[in-house]
Amino acid sequence: MKAIGVTREGEGVELLEVDRPAPAEGEALVRTLRVGVDGTDHEVIAGSHGGSPQDSDYMILGHEAVGVVEDGNGSGLEAGQVVVPTVRRKPDGETNEYFRRGEPDMAPSGEYVERGIVGEHGFMAEYFTSPADTLVPIPDHLADQGMLVEPISIAEKANEHAFSTREPFEWRPESACVLGNGTLGLLTLWMLGREFDRTYCVGRRDRPDPTIDVMDELGATYVDSRETSVEEMPDAHEAVDYVFEATGYAPHAVQTVHALAPNGVGALLGIPGSWEFEIDGGAVHEEIVLHNKCLIGTVNSHVKHFEAAVETLDAMPSWLLEELVTTVATPEAVDQAFEDDNDQIKAVVEFDTL
Ligand code: NAP
Ligand code: BGC
Ligand code: ZN
Repeated sequence: MKAIGVTREGEGVELLEVDRPAPAEGEALVRTLRVGVDGTDHEVIAGSHGGSPQDSDYMILGHEAVGVVEDGNGSGLEAGQVVVPTVRRKPDGETNEYFRRGEPDMAPSGEYVERGIVGEHGFMAEYFTSPADTLVPIPDHLADQGMLVEPISIAEKANEHAFSTREPFEWRPESACVLGNGTLGLLTLWMLGREFDRTYCVGRRDRPDPTIDVMDELGATYVDSRETSVEEMPDAHEAVDYVFEATGYAPHAVQTVHALAPNGVGALLGIPGSWEFEIDGGAVHEEIVLHNKCLIGTVNSHVKHFEAAVETLDAMPSWLLEELVTTVATPEAVDQAFEDDNDQIKAVVEFDTL
């Protein structure tokens, strides 16, 4: 079958021919419909995050997938059901408390593999297998957009963790700022627009730009980080109650503290790697303490976040989904889905239709 992957020697993505997987006990065989590409895939291709399975000289990419059950294999899933796979799996032959609790997203490095990212093949192939309890059923009418469930689930988890830190007191947030105008940022911007009176989105591009058009249409204010640094938000616009960082730009982690209003919370999602720069550590420390601020880190998501994401996706307006999914590539023309092109927002590889 056709698969899209990276090889140890190779540069960039390649169309590979690999064997169709056979489902083990408890697993279903899934026929892949669409697989999305995100910033993490580019980090994996660049070699700055994740890596191939130990026993393989290539890795099939893809962790944002939607497919249809081809063979339930007695796992409890029925052939024809549309499903979205979660990303984390137990390391081979092992398990640990996080998986036993159903919270693999809270496992530390080394205690999980991630399909298509860390040590395990992903879903960017004509077929994949997966344990039934890692396949979240979705309604048929969401099949074309189902690859967005995973990134939305990431935002569901981040928001849940961030907002729960403010539960001990009466928090009345009004404004939120998303850092980053990739798909994760824009999906989250729509979600926060439902809860906050005012939203901002930070990018570093000139108009005309399709991501800035989406911000405009969502009623958010575009902030160009080349003109207004994130720490200048309070002077340039307002101090915000919530910051959602989705850039991978490490200085934003520190600047977030200064962008927040008293009692605000910032969620950091980017995965920058080593990045040295000077900061006034005392000012950061004092600001967090004297204004009851909170910074959280958040990664991955599990089944309950996927289930919440299915509802969120269902509520998203069709114009937004049409504007976000700019590229639908075939496996043969897969390079189109990995281009560095500002006209591209979400690129997907389509293997089949329902
Ligand atoms: P993406 O498509 O690469 O988007 C990142 C966006 O951030 C781009 O639009 C980029 O703008 C913008 N950006 C980068 N540096 C900036 C700066 N200094 N000022 C303003 N904007 C800046 O990636 P994504 O898929 O949306 O994901 C966003 C980040 O979250 C990535 O680092 C990804 O690895 C991470 N992520 C984490 C999780 C998690 O579980 N924690 C899950 C998914 C993704 P340009 O395009 O103009 O350069
Ligand atoms: C994926 C997450 C994963 C994270 C770190 C993200 O792009 O969506 O599922 O945990 O990267 O590898
Ligand atoms: Zn991702």
